[in-house]
Amino acid sequence: MTQVESKPTTNDTPFVPIEKIVALCKRRGFVYPNSEIYGGVSGIYDFGPLGVELRNNIRRYWWWSMVQLHDNIVGIEGAIITHPRVWEASGHVENFVDRLVDCKNCKRRFRIDHLPEENVIQNKCPECGGELMEPRTFNLLMETYLGVVEGERMQTYLRGEACQNIYLDFDNVVKSSRVQIPFGICQIGKAFRNEVTPGNFLFRQREFEQWDLQFFVHPSEMLQWFDYWKEKRFEWYMGLINHKDRLHFREHGPDELAHYAKQAFDIEYKTILGWQEWEGIHWRQDWDLSRHSEYSGQDLSYTDQNTKERYIPWIVETSGGVDRTFLNLLLDAYEEEPDPTGKEPRTVLRLHPALAPVKVAVLPLQKNKEELVTTAKNIHKKLQRLMVSQYDDVANIGRRYRRQDEIGTPYCVTIDFQTLDDRTVTVRERDHMTQVRINIDELPAYLLERVTWQ
Ligand code: GAP
Repeated sequence: MTQVESKPTTNDTPFVPIEKIVALCKRRGFVYPNSEIYGGVSGIYDFGPLGVELRNNIRRYWWWSMVQLHDNIVGIEGAIITHPRVWEASGHVENFVDRLVDCKNCKRRFRIDHLPEENVIQNKCPECGGELMEPRTFNLLMETYLGVVEGERMQTYLRGEACQNIYLDFDNVVKSSRVQIPFGICQIGKAFRNEVTPGNFLFRQREFEQWDLQFFVHPSEMLQWFDYWKEKRFEWYMGLINHKDRLHFREHGPDELAHYAKQAFDIEYKTILGWQEWEGIHWRQDWDLSRHSEYSGQDLSYTDQNTKERYIPWIVETSGGVDRTFLNLLLDAYEEEPDPTGKEPRTVLRLHPALAPVKVAVLPLQKNKEELVTTAKNIHKKLQRLMVSQYDDVANIGRRYRRQDEIGTPYCVTIDFQTLDDRTVTVRERDHMTQVRINIDELPAYLLERVTWQ
C-alpha cells in the first residue's frame, strides 16, 4: 500500500489533546461511551457508524498484510471463553497482576510501575506528597461462570490475551492445513482485562481488541525471524502515519518483561501522553506450547517432515491493538489548519485514504436543480457498490467540503452545470484541496486506484 505522505514535524508541532479527539468522535459518530444513558462504564466504549467503518478498514488492512500476502501464514478465530486451565497454564492466574498503592491523604490510586522512582523510594504520593499505603496486588483476569445450576457452575475467565487460542489450536492447524515451520497463525479478537487504572479514552480499556501473529520457528532460526518481524511491523505502522518522527522502538528492561517473554521490543508512538506502546514484539520462545503440553497432557511438539526432528517450536509474537491503532491514527491525522480567508480553521483528518471511513462524498452544486440532483444520485448509487460513498446536498458546497474533511473523506465529487454539458465532474482532494475535472465514466477507476490498498 502506498505510504501516507510524511508531514514533517518539528519540536514546535503541537500534540493533539485527547479531549479534541473524544469530542470529534462523539460529535461525528466514531465512538460513544458505553451505556451512557446509565452513567457509562469506565474503560468500555461503543463504536458508531463512522467508527465501525474505520475499525473494519484497520482490521481488514492488517489481515490483508499479514495473512493474505503471506503463503506461510493462516488465520483463525477462537472463542472468547476457554477452559479455565488455559489461564493457569499461560501463567496469567499467577502472574497477570498489577501492584497498586493508595495515598493515605488524597486517596488517589497508582500502579507502582507507573510511579516515578523517587516516589517509590520515598513512599510519597506524586500528586499531594502524602504517605502511600502498603502495596496491594490485583489480578487483571475477568471472571465469568458457565452453567446455570448454582453450585455446579464452572468458573472461568474472559480471555485476558487473545493469542492463547492460537496455542490451543496449534496442533489442529498443523494437522489440517499442511503448514510447515516456519509458519504463522494470525487472529484478531477481543480481550478483557480488569485494568485498575483504565483511561485516556481508547488507550487503556477493559474490553478491547488485539491482533496477534504467532510465528512458529525452529529454535536455531529464532533470532533471524525475531529481527525480521520486528522490522516488518515497524514499516507497517510507518506506512500509516503522517508524523514519521513519532515512531520508535523501545527495548524492555529485564524487570519489565512479561512472564512469558525472554526479550521484547515495543513499537512506541509519541502523543500528548508521551511515548507509549502501540505494539509489542515478544520472544516467547517455547513457553506457551511447553506449558500447554504440560498442563493438558497433550504433546504439542512438531515433527519436521524432512529431517524427522521432533521439537517444541519457538514463537515470535507481534501483538498490537485495534483500538490503540484507531486512537493513534486519529491523533496522528487530526489537524486544525488556519483558514487564509480568516474564517474558522479547517479541521481535517489526514487518514490514509484506504483506511478512511468514507471514501467519497457526492455533492450536487445546488439541491434545487433537479438535473444536478438526479445526476449526483446516480453517480452515488454507482460508486456505492464499490466503496463507501455519501450523498450530501445540505448547505453550501464549502460547508459540505468541511464536513467531509473533518471525518477524513479523501475525495469529494461535485456535480455542477458543466457536468450536464460535457459529463465531467470536479474531484476535490482532501489534503491539498486541489481539484481536477474527470469524465463520469472514468470516475470509478480514478477513485478505486486511490482508495484501495494494492
Ligand atoms: N499477547 C501479548 C499481549 O497481550 P500486551 O502488550 O499486553 O501483550 C498487546 O498487549 C497490545 O494490546 C498492546 O500493544 C496494545 O496495543 C493492546 N492493549 C493492551 N492492553 C490494552 C488495553 N487495556 N486497552 C487497549 N489496548 C490494549
